[in-house]
Amino acid sequence: MKQTEYIGAGELSKLSGIVQDFAPSKVFLITGKSSYIASGATQLVELALAGIDVLHYTDISALPLDEDIKKGVIAYTSFNPDLVIAVGGGHVIDMTKSINFLAGKKPLVAIPTTAGTGSEATSFSVVYKNGRKTSLESPDMLPMFAIVDPNLAMSVSRETALPSALDALCQAIESFWSNKATEESRGYARQALQLIWKNIIPAIEKRDSGAITALCIGAHLAGKAINISKTTACHAFSYGLTYRFGVPHGIAVALFLPSVYRYNNVSGLSMSPEDIEGLLRRFGITNLSQYGVKPSDIAMLAAEVNTERLGNNPRVIREGDIINFFQKIV
Ligand SMILES: [Fe+2]
Repeated sequence: MKQTEYIGAGELSKLSGIVQDFAPSKVFLITGKSSYIASGATQLVELALAGIDVLHYTDISALPLDEDIKKGVIAYTSFNPDLVIAVGGGHVIDMTKSINFLAGKKPLVAIPTTAGTGSEATSFSVVYKNGRKTSLESPDMLPMFAIVDPNLAMSVSRETALPSALDALCQAIESFWSNKATEESRGYARQALQLIWKNIIPAIEKRDSGAITALCIGAHLAGKAINISKTTACHAFSYGLTYRFGVPHGIAVALFLPSVYRYNNVSGLSMSPEDIEGLLRRFGITNLSQYGVKPSDIAMLAAEVNTERLGNNPRVIREGDIINFFQKIV
């Protein structure tokens, strides 16, 4: 499926035209609880949906859990929408992609409110099932429309903005070195990385609007890159930290980035593993104990790593070696 993208400040206003073109009688709208209002999206979305029967669904938790997706599928199925709109962070868009794929495969408009996950640009989604990370994947899952409007990310708190930005950074770098990278995905990854690396500090520390705009575009490009190349070891290692210890996804992934970078020993990137460590230190991210992970938890976390994405890592990581990557950051 091809995606139509609207990228830039003020582009949310294009939602009205999309809705008018489809002339839906019922719209399933999934949003975050607070991000929907804080992002400033409410007014324009409500304007675009005036007079239409809308089910506004906000029953989502901080992680895309299988049981929540099942609940969403029931609500979606009984409502039977002909257009689906997701407004929120990566987990909101991931949940919506899963629900829409399982329940109806209707046209989907994805509108991120943070600069980060790039979920609006990918044809897969994360699902936590029985405590394990799994994923759904199909070309049908790529949202038909992506509206990336940096104005929505301006009021996001540092607490939300930082993990999202680090996710985008990791996705760009992992895409660059992934075994599945192509010329096209490397092009997106390079562009993404340039934008993210240059703008991440002013975007996070000064909340500079130009830097946030660049970060939003970089994050979207990183999403396009991993849509082709997928992610690698940093992502593979991270999911248990998020599920079991509540470490925000982008931070969980970034903690592994310096050591995986050293191990992979790739060339062609403009920043070194030490540069990345310096960046993480500056943001106060240094080790796992900060997040309540004890040395005695490491064996369990390493044993639970889903090895699906490890095959994309440019240097082979044997199952027995996984624990070393956790020990380096404990
Ligand atoms: Fe990610």
